[in-house]
Amino acid sequence: MESLCEAACALQLLERRGAARYGLGPLGAALLGNPGIAAMVRHHAALYADLGDPLALLRGHDRERRLAHYWPYALDHGGQSLTRDDVAPYTELMAASQPMIADVVLSAYPLTGHRCLLDVGGGDGSFLSAAARAAPQLQLQLFDLPEVAAIARERLAKAGLAGRTTISPGSFYDDPLPSGADVISLIRVVHDHDDDAVAHLFAKVRAALPADGILLLGEPMRDAAGGSDGVSAYFEIYLRAMGQGRPRSANRLRELLNVAGFSQVRVLRTRIPLIASVIVAKS
Ligand SMILES: C[S@@+](CC[C@H](N)C(=O)[O-])C[C@H]1O[C@@H](n2cnc3c(N)ncnc32)[C@H](O)[C@@H]1O
Repeated sequence: MESLCEAACALQLLERRGAARYGLGPLGAALLGNPGIAAMVRHHAALYADLGDPLALLRGHDRERRLAHYWPYALDHGGQSLTRDDVAPYTELMAASQPMIADVVLSAYPLTGHRCLLDVGGGDGSFLSAAARAAPQLQLQLFDLPEVAAIARERLAKAGLAGRTTISPGSFYDDPLPSGADVISLIRVVHDHDDDAVAHLFAKVRAALPADGILLLGEPMRDAAGGSDGVSAYFEIYLRAMGQGRPRSANRLRELLNVAGFSQVRVLRTRIPLIASVIVAKS
């Protein structure tokens, strides 16, 4: 017990409170207070299993990667074969970790002054629920793979938001995005996909927006304002295990946005760049 406690002190999970007495340290308190962090730590079992053969992981030869099965849209882009059991674990993980993301993104771009928000790859609707609380005037739309959209329909109804929300099931690889929103968000979506898919997605977002509509992009970026190297250390390896996607710099995202026809592209500073930086682009 003493060895465990001393090791945990070194990680600031615990701290010494006297002879043979320990209490929660600053990082331990954060872990206990934020169930999303514990859920993230637990799902890393899949990443550590894939790291068991690091060369296969880096060469991209291992089709049996556990993390690719955890995120099954990495194996089935259209999502047609995915069941509720396939999508439920990652959708729960995203919901558990979404409050801290929403807090960071909505502090940087509060969505006041917009009429209707479409959240593409919106998961169970947690980001939309937070946006609805922060901006009570907003109408809400969500687009995600069919089995995830079904979960969002239930969650948003439970949250009393059914009357404000339209849900569109589909794949952004194959289907058009619904129109009608003056702001479209992509939260922790783009880094999961390769450049061709992202270029295609940005073009679809632009086509769905009115003139002067806004794309709100929130995800970890390699060198965004105040960005940290931790983004590369984690996501370069993580996304290789998943089998697709890249952490991109804000400049690379700006290039892809310009090619899709977005003109004014602004990078906004956030409090915790390791979990999300923000880009706002005008159509
Ligand atoms: C990493 S999760 C992020 C979820 C949510 N935006 C959040 O931050 O909590 C990526 C989301 O994109 C969705 N997604 C992946 N591929 C998709 C596709 N082809 N069409 C629509 N949604 C897709 C997934 O189902 C998932 O909900």
